[in-house]
Amino acid sequence: MAIIKVCLGSSCFVRGNDKTLAFLEDYIRRNNKNATIELLGCRCTNSCQDGPTVFVDDKKYCHPTQEELLRILEAL
Ligand code: FES
Repeated sequence: MAIIKVCLGSSCFVRGNDKTLAFLEDYIRRNNKNATIELLGCRCTNSCQDGPTVFVDDKKYCHPTQEELLRILEAL
């Protein structure tokens, strides 16, 4: 199972992770990926300057676009 963590710290959240979270939730629901992708929120990881940050199996992605996220999701 892949684990995706979306930083929900205030800096990342207001700079785009609110939309990223909604995008990921929607992708998982529409593609019935609940059994293969675990979506979690996480607290600030002290890399706000790189944010908004998303972690996929502990690999950090900095301000990923929805197109990049889609490529990552389709490769899981
Ligand atoms: S708020 Fe996301 S890294 Fe700090």
